Amino acid sequence: MIISIGSDHAGFEQKELLIGYLLERGHDVIDRGPENDDRVDYPDYAALVAQDVANGAADRGVLVCGTGIGMALAADKVPGIRAANIITPQFALLCREHNDANVITLSGRFVEPAVNCEILEIFLTTEFGGGRHAGRVEKIMELDSLV
Ligand code: RB5
Repeated sequence: MIISIGSDHAGFEQKELLIGYLLERGHDVIDRGPENDDRVDYPDYAALVAQDVANGAADRGVLVCGTGIGMALAADKVPGIRAANIITPQFALLCREHNDANVITLSGRFVEPAVNCEILEIFLTTEFGGGRHAGRVEKIMELDSLV
């Protein structure tokens, strides 16, 4: 898969680790930055990764900030994006099976790297369940056109 990834300063260290993990697993990675842990604004990086997913340059997106919350709020503003802030492996499974999430946002400050790697693996390998969930996801996407 092609994975677009970005962070802010609080997520930078784990972003670098996760890039290594993704490359080891054979994925192609688009690193949208930042290049170091200097203080930055997370919406700037959420926008870059979300646009990569929305326009098809990447199959999935990964964003890391202190909590993952700000990244999810920002990425979900981009039409076509279903970003979920995930801090447990079980929720990683459910955000794919039930919500067809195409971007995952992670906590660099409150979740250990090994857990984030497990979350990421589940996010990338779990199929959308479809069925009763399909119409609900369609309804989410219809909200993109509301003003
Ligand atoms: C930065 O201090 C912090 O606010 C940011 O990384 C993130 O947690 C926001 O949701």
